[in-house]
Amino acid sequence: MTKKLEGAGLRGQSAGQTSLSTVEQEGSLRYLGYSIEDLAKNASFEEVAYLLLLGQLPNSSQLHDFENELFELRTMPTSLVSVLESIPSSAHPMEVIRTIISYMGVIEPEESFEDQLQIAKRLLGVTTSAIVYWYKFSHKNKKIDQETGEKSLAAHFLKLLRQEEIPALHQKTLDVSLTLYAEHEFNASTFTGRVCASTLSDLHSCLTAAVGSLRGPLHGGANEEAMVMLQEVQSVESVKNYVDQKLENKEKIMGFGHAVYSVRDPRSDIIKDFSQKLSQDHADKLLHDIAEEMETYMWELKKLFPNTDFFHAPAYHYIGIPTKLFTPLFAIARIVGWSAHAFEQRGNNRIIRPSADYIGPEDREWIDIKSR
Ligand SMILES: CC(C)(COP(=O)(O)OP(=O)(O)OC[C@H]1O[C@@H](n2cnc3c(N)ncnc32)[C@H](O)[C@@H]1OP(=O)(O)O)[C@@H](O)C(=O)NCCC(=O)NCCS
Repeated sequence: MTKKLEGAGLRGQSAGQTSLSTVEQEGSLRYLGYSIEDLAKNASFEEVAYLLLLGQLPNSSQLHDFENELFELRTMPTSLVSVLESIPSSAHPMEVIRTIISYMGVIEPEESFEDQLQIAKRLLGVTTSAIVYWYKFSHKNKKIDQETGEKSLAAHFLKLLRQEEIPALHQKTLDVSLTLYAEHEFNASTFTGRVCASTLSDLHSCLTAAVGSLRGPLHGGANEEAMVMLQEVQSVESVKNYVDQKLENKEKIMGFGHAVYSVRDPRSDIIKDFSQKLSQDHADKLLHDIAEEMETYMWELKKLFPNTDFFHAPAYHYIGIPTKLFTPLFAIARIVGWSAHAFEQRGNNRIIRPSADYIGPEDREWIDIKSR
């Protein structure tokens, strides 16, 4: 077995500067100085998106204009609709998100960096409508109307998906979730996007690269994996046995642990609260109870705590989101953070090109192919 490399995963090393967010080991997260708790409690996702993309909180009229713009920019180009209708239901939804962004780069390319903000807003709007359109078309054989009349992205997504009026708590849950997922410093996908931005590539390329990194189960894919796991457990009483068996088989418990936080992920407490409230009058209340028991046991056993993905699983389930769409929602929210990081990188750029410590063979004599 390969030994863990010294300094592997660049853990704990600074790879550059950012003014967008701070992630503190003890469990604190701030976007441009504002705590995640304050933002989740007081701001809408659109306000948070404005803050990250434009560098300051909007006043009422700025927010109103921004919301209207996002609203207008949601409508999908006709040719995108045809592309979506040709993608089979067997496709991984993150492949669909990657395709949507990539295709938008073909038909509405970034001609100049001056268009970057407009493109970020366009992608935020279009991906939301497009992923639900694809899901409904491929899985339910339905061509849905793209218009919902809802200004908020969270309400629009849920209404497209469920085709009914959305209870306020459900809308608030998704709105807060998008805020929690919007930005997180130099995580794997953002760093991928920044490396791409540092070559002065176009924004669509930066974002598709980032989507590829987010897809992995060790990153964004963990919310889906956590759901699959929680549904495998039959009762609160069987949690300990389930966890013990997984650990014995050297499997990870998805949604636990973090590369930076060491005792708590502040986003977890916030989404857990929503999961708890939603579970109260849900037929599937057990799912939250199982999750809570797993949280307690994992701490007792390994001093591991849930990261943001874990309680997102029951919370999303309670608001009627199919498991397949969990990670795409993370991606839609993170379009904001990825774009803001690409803007920042472009604003003060030097190509990102680290070096590696060579651990291969010593210098060797060339051997002709016939003599090998
Ligand atoms: C997030 C994560 C990738 C961080 O990785 P990391 O900083 O490299 O941490 P490590 O994998 O080195 O973990 C340190 C130790 O805790 C263990 N550990 C970490 N997360 C674990 C988990 N979810 N389940 C079981 N054990 C875990 C590791 O096996 C390792 O043990 P070891 O030292 O005996 O090998 C890792 O915790 C993980 O894979 N979690 C599950 C996936 C997940 O939820 N991802 C979403 C992140 S927001």
